[in-house]
Amino acid sequence: MALITFSSPMHKDKTVYAVAGSHTQTILALAKEHHIPIDFGCQEGNCGTCLVKVSSVDGKRRPMGGPLNVREVAALTELGHITKAQVEQMYVDDIPPTQWRLACQMIIRDEDILVEYPSK
Ligand code: FES
Repeated sequence: MALITFSSPMHKDKTVYAVAGSHTQTILALAKEHHIPIDFGCQEGNCGTCLVKVSSVDGKRRPMGGPLNVREVAALTELGHITKAQVEQMYVDDIPPTQWRLACQMIIRDEDILVEYPSK
């Protein structure tokens, strides 16, 4: 089980358990399940409304998470949160190159993470 802490300057922090390993549950789905008000729009990785910042709880290492999918790459590039060089390195390292993620696309893994929202 993973512990996911949602943090926002506008709301009280909330930590919830996530069943990791399903390889299907997104950060946004977990937030909705626990009534955590992360903004969202398309839910398909196109609009960028669900942008969040993800970090490991101890702050020492980048979260494992999965590499960004093509929709995240496109949205984060358009939003200026990732460079072409970072994308190329991601395919070498096989880990996300940035803390910026789309909540509707990031699949929860077996790691304790901090999700900060809103991101603006
Ligand atoms: Fe549109 Fe996530 S809700 S990109």
